[in-house]
Amino acid sequence: MAAKPRKRAPAAGTTKRPRTRFRLLGKEVEVPAGMTLLNAMQVAGHDYLKGCGCRMGDCGECAVYYRMPGAPVTLRDFSCELRVMEGMDVMEVPFKWNLAFRRAGEGEK
Ligand code: FES
Repeated sequence: MAAKPRKRAPAAGTTKRPRTRFRLLGKEVEVPAGMTLLNAMQVAGHDYLKGCGCRMGDCGECAVYYRMPGAPVTLRDFSCELRVMEGMDVMEVPFKWNLAFRRAGEGEK
């Protein structure tokens, strides 16, 4: 029996993965779809200073305030458990995170 030809993995950077756009503290951000908001913030360059402990909804250190498009209410959730959604507007994150993100955007260190 002849051996089956092996499938090759696509070359790096050639696959199209769905993307999601959202606003993070007033800035438009695009990340791969399906990420938790915590990971999406990190991918977007949001470098938090304080420890974000458990990453599974126990410690409460990663709480964010956000709105969905067209919704009149502000929601609060733990970013480690929340999947990033198209058009969501993340308005507030804990103070130290917020400061770090602004510094990154302004080129400060
Ligand atoms: S990191 Fe602990 S609740 Fe999100």
